[in-house]
Amino acid sequence: MKQADANQDLKKAAGIRAASFVQSGMRVGLGTGSTAAFLIEELGRRKREENLQIVCTATSFSSQVLGEKAGLTVLPIDQFDDLDISIDGADEIDPRLYLIKGGGAAHTREKLVHAMSRRFVVIADSSKRVQKLGVKFAVPVEVIPCSARYAMRRLMALGATHCEIRMSKSGKDGPVVTDNANFILDSTMDVADPISMETAINCIPGVLENGIFASVRPVQAVIAEAGGLDEITLPA
Ligand code: A5P
Repeated sequence: MKQADANQDLKKAAGIRAASFVQSGMRVGLGTGSTAAFLIEELGRRKREENLQIVCTATSFSSQVLGEKAGLTVLPIDQFDDLDISIDGADEIDPRLYLIKGGGAAHTREKLVHAMSRRFVVIADSSKRVQKLGVKFAVPVEVIPCSARYAMRRLMALGATHCEIRMSKSGKDGPVVTDNANFILDSTMDVADPISMETAINCIPGVLENGIFASVRPVQAVIAEAGGLDEITLPA
């Protein structure tokens, strides 16, 4: 089996397992990305076949559309005071369940939804495991467009070795524009201390949110490996 196909199977296994944590009556935060898409598909199946009764909110426009297509009720985030559970993918996961997210440019709404959730569960295939954040994936930083050049200089001063505006690779010419009408700066950096780096980046004027999930992190992980599922729960 090709590696890409194997990863799809692993993502699906993690998504389906995490969907089993959802019960009727719950208010559910839907993540964004290819792993979360399997979760959403499975929740839709359970609604059709098992009469699962849930209300959801989405971390991105694309997940809202996927949720609606799956037959789920998807309401705006500000209709909720809190959520029972939220489930989402990640780009990097370290041993303490600190994350880098934002490969899909959705990390600002993702962080909001997961902060509102009593139980944030991260789902992934094992390629997302790292010993230290920033090793494989640049930190995405959402900025208002007019601050991009200034913010890039400040990110370099914080230790980034490379920083660039994320450009659209398909469909649209020019920069990726987020659901909040902003730009993404991909900032290659060694994240030795996730909590302090998350805070320092968010103190740069013009920054809306960055993709280090340390102040908001999952309480549980479902990581699919070739040999099965590894489920990790952080001590309360
Ligand atoms: C979206 O902005 C991201 O945070 C995704 O959750 C993350 O990139 C994981 O995506 P995949 O599940 O597609 O790998």
